[in-house]
Amino acid sequence: MTSLITTGLRRLIGGDEGLGLGQHQATVVAVCAQKGGVGKTTTAVNLAAGLAMYGGAKVLLVDMDGQGHCATALQAELRGAAADSLGAVLLGRRRDLQEIALRTAIDGLWVVPSDKDLGATEGVMSGRIGKEMLLRSALKVARTHYDVIVVDCPPNLGSLTVNALVAADWLLVPCDMSVLSVEGVDDIFDAVDHIGETMGHHLAVLGILRTRYDARNQKVNEAVEASLARYEHYVLPVRVPVNTALAQAQLAGTPIFKYDAECRSAVAYREVVEEVTRRAQMRAR
Ligand SMILES: Nc1ncnc2c1ncn2[C@@H]1O[C@H](COP(=O)(O)OP(=O)(O)O)[C@@H](O)[C@H]1O
Ligand SMILES: [Mg+2]
Repeated sequence: MTSLITTGLRRLIGGDEGLGLGQHQATVVAVCAQKGGVGKTTTAVNLAAGLAMYGGAKVLLVDMDGQGHCATALQAELRGAAADSLGAVLLGRRRDLQEIALRTAIDGLWVVPSDKDLGATEGVMSGRIGKEMLLRSALKVARTHYDVIVVDCPPNLGSLTVNALVAADWLLVPCDMSVLSVEGVDDIFDAVDHIGETMGHHLAVLGILRTRYDARNQKVNEAVEASLARYEHYVLPVRVPVNTALAQAQLAGTPIFKYDAECRSAVAYREVVEEVTRRAQMRAR
């Protein structure tokens, strides 16, 4: 009996164990783009790792894409095995993502990997009342344990992405230098407006990040930059260059900062970390 009360109290007043509430109040950043291959996962992984490594933040990376690329990209860093799958937690509603977060070898970085059944989960989700709120609910306790929660989204605007947007405070949109990618930005902004109108959840745009930038494609770059001009103040100043070191780091299962801290893309992603920190603080005031 005494231990039951003690456990209950511990849960109420906090502590770093299990489902106890922590002392943090996380900012949730959704990394979202409709197109595949634009660098969402690369950005989510390196932003999360960079915030932990250089910003001293306690960070949770949540993979909402059933392809499971976050776990692949951090393969060499992950420690332990998940107690349950992300899909089961989203649908079960009894557990918090805090309980299935995996530690990594990087100080301050935890990961909730996706599972291969997440696609099927999405189908089941669509029949649920409050189907857009499942991730938000599952992050209630986790929010109190981390400074930042980064959510990597699948390449579409389906239920999993909508869940990420509804759970998020901020939206970061990677956009490679292609016209199709810019069209996708319009669709995401429409979805954000729609979520604001229908659910009263107003997430803010942290920025549009130009990725896979190749200075040799001058004509295409100019066309894309011209299309992006209407989002002027959302476009982050930094451009992530095309750099094979990113693919190599992914293969090695480690963030670019551990693979080659001095390469061009590591320098760019460090700037992304700084810019995101600056913007999030500025707008939180
Ligand atoms: N700036 C870049 N330069 C070169 N390769 C990149 C760059 N960004 C991502 N990649 C590679 O492109 C592929 C797709 O990137 P990824 O981040 O998985 O995209 P998404 O999550 O949007 O589908 C991966 O193999 C990744 O290593
Ligand atoms: Mg991806």
